[in-house]
Order: sequence, then C-alpha cells, then structure tokens
Amino acid sequence: MMHLLVTGGAGFIGGNFIRWMKKNAPEHLIVNVDALTYAGNLESLSDISEDEGYRFVRADIRDRTKMEEIFKTFDITHVVNFAAESHVDRSIVDPEVFLTTNIIGTQVLLDAAKKHWNLAPDDKYSRDYRENVKFLQVSTDEVYGALGKEGMFSETTPLSPNSPYSAAKASADLICRAYSETFGLPVNITRCSNNYGPFQFPEKLIPLMIHNCIKGKSLPVYGDGMQIRDWLHVSDHCSAIYTVLTRGTSGEVYNIGGNNERANIDIVKLIIKTLGAKEELITYVKDRPGHDRRYAIDNTKITTQLGWSPSYTFENGMAETIAWYQNNASWMEHVLSGEYADYYERMYAPSFES
Ligand code: NAD
Ligand code: TYD
Repeated sequence: MMHLLVTGGAGFIGGNFIRWMKKNAPEHLIVNVDALTYAGNLESLSDISEDEGYRFVRADIRDRTKMEEIFKTFDITHVVNFAAESHVDRSIVDPEVFLTTNIIGTQVLLDAAKKHWNLAPDDKYSRDYRENVKFLQVSTDEVYGALGKEGMFSETTPLSPNSPYSAAKASADLICRAYSETFGLPVNITRCSNNYGPFQFPEKLIPLMIHNCIKGKSLPVYGDGMQIRDWLHVSDHCSAIYTVLTRGTSGEVYNIGGNNERANIDIVKLIIKTLGAKEELITYVKDRPGHDRRYAIDNTKITTQLGWSPSYTFENGMAETIAWYQNNASWMEHVLSGEYADYYERMYAPSFES
C-alpha cells in the first residue's frame, strides 16, 4: 500500500488524479498538500473530503519544516508533485513566484523525500533507500520549446523552454535529474501535452472559451489562432501517471500524449458549434510574447515500454467536457470570484485587442 503525497491536489490535474485514484486504486492512502492559491479549489473534491484514506493539509511546498513533518506524520512512500504555478500568461506578467514555487518548492520536496527514505540519512553520500519508494515529478512538453511544421518531442529532445513558466519547469526537471544521478533517489519525470477536462481553471483556453460562449462574451484568440497544441483528456494523463508511478524505471523520463494535434482556432470553432454560439464572438487579440507555435508529443516510449494508451478520442472527450461545464455552472461561478475577475479585466482589457 502506498502512502502517497499528492501536492497541488486542489488544482485541475491533481484533483482529477485524486478522483482517478479513488476510483481505480482506492487501497492507497492519499495526503493532498496544497497552498490553495487562486488556482486551488477544495470544492472540486468536496464529495471525497470525508473518505477513509484521504487527508488534506493546507501547506506551501516551499515550507521545509512543514514538508518534513508531513513525510514523518504520514510515513510518505510516494510523491506525485503537481504543485506549481501553471499559467504561461501569468508567468509573463510576474515570473518570480514561478521560480520559487516550481523550482525551490520541488527541491524542498526532493530533500524531504531523500531524508525520509534514506537508510543512512546522516551519511551525505549514502545512496541506499527503502524499497518501494518513488518521487514522480509532473512536468510538461513545454520544456522542449516550440516545433516548426514537422517533428515531435521525444524524451531526448534538448530542453529549450521559452516562457518563464516553462523555464521554471525545465529547471525543476534538471534538479530532479540531479537528485537521481547524484543521490540515487528513485525519481521519474513525466512530460505531458496540454490537458483538458472537468475542473480546469477558466484562465486556460478550453474552459475559458466554453464559459465565454455560454455567457455570450467575446472569445479572445491570440495572434492568428494557428498555434497547435497536442490535447489529452486529463483522465488519460492520470492513468499514465499511475502507470509510471507503479511501473516506470527509476531515473527515466516519460513523455505523455495522445496524438491529438489541433489548431487553437479549430478548438474555438468546435466549442462554438457544440454550444450553438455565434462565430462573430471570435475576437483576434494581441499575440502572447514568445508564443510557442506548435507542440507534439512522441509517446512511443510509454506506449511500448509500459503498455499505456489513452482511452478518450478528442471528439468524445470534448463532448463530455463541454457538457460537464454546462452542468456545473455553480462550480464555475465560485472559482470566478475576486482574484480571477481582476485578472481577467487586466489581461483582456480593450487595449489588448489587435
Ligand atoms: P493548476 O494551476 O490547476 O493547479 C496547481 C495547484 O498547485 C493549485 O491547487 C495550487 O493551489 C497549488 N499550488 C501552487 N503553488 C503552491 C505551493 N507553493 N505550495 C503548494 N501548493 C501550491 O495546475 P494544473 O493545470 O493542474 O497543473 C498541475 C501540474 O501539471 C503542474 O505542475 C503543471 O506544470 C503540469 N502540467 C499541466 C498541464 C496542463 O495542461 N494543465 C500539462 C502538462 C503538465
Ligand atoms: P493555455 O490553455 O494557456 O495553455 P498553454 O499556453 O500552456 O499551451 O493556451 C493554449 C493555447 O491557446 C495557447 O496557444 C494560447 C492560446 N490561447 C488563446 O488564444 N486565447 C486565450 O485566451 C488563452 C487563455 C489561450
């Protein structure tokens, strides 16, 4: 049985992962540690908050004393580190917190794991760890930078991040690699493409467009809208993480993706069509600085070596996701309170239109 520390479990993917675990591997203890920033919302987990085998601790992953205490109190054996500042546009406006949370926070967790799992913690050269422990760092395809029309990211593609967000995620990956190489800590890194699905914060493309369509608000498309992302349903990301956590070879990186490349404008048009909204809502706005043109994941390693495959088609996943947002209007209204409303005003002020 795992004593699993899930950081950032009140966010989009972390929360979906906890739900996925409850459904598919309910025997494990899950300790959800989240600082509850603007992106964290416990309402997303309200129906499982009283479950046996689930605990929530509000804490910041940069708090070393607290992290060590959590490892001890719950005798943590596995970590899935989702906690991060995750939005590229915010990282352009205010990069610093991306560096402290995404890099230093990860290093604090690695230290706590190393200390708790090492069989000779006072020997700084010891590489002997307890059996059945693992640190999984949830990373992103954005660490590879941008692609042109051809090619895909494989695990050996050089890191070439372009935004403060992706640079911070790449830095965390390198620190994880160093703890694996130098200290022998059992680490995996997963690099997934863009996720969509229920409970995603409406600052990201798909929930933002769904929400604005429902409300009849304009749909802000950056630049020419021809940027390409490789979309994966969040539930498929969760099954891939569980696969790597339980079967991945320590020290290895695994890319995760489902071969679903779509241009942003085509996604916006699909949402418009599904919701019966008007194409006139599309508003082309100033492009994001340093906007990556195309991402595409080569998933050969995880599919052939670990036998993982996605279960959603993009069409089914999107139909289900749009219906979910239609049926969960109150969740949306609650997360759209104070801080986000201010952010939206600043980000999409009239001067932003092209
Ligand atoms: P999110 O922004 O929805 O959630 C992040 C969570 O982390 C929030 O609950 C927030 O409160 C928490 N958090 C932030 N700073 C913290 C801190 N200092 N201490 C403790 N908790 C803190 O993000 P998401 O979209 O769920 O992404 C989760 C992870 O997956 C991130 O590491 C991200 O880089 C990675 N990822 C995301 C995508 C995607 O498409 N969303 C794709 C690939 C990888
Ligand atoms: P986003 O969901 O922010 O994810 P990421 O930047 O991590 O890929 O954006 C996805 C794509 O959608 C990206 O190319 C930027 C674009 N986009 C818009 O055109 N308009 C928007 O309002 C947002 C939030 C994103």
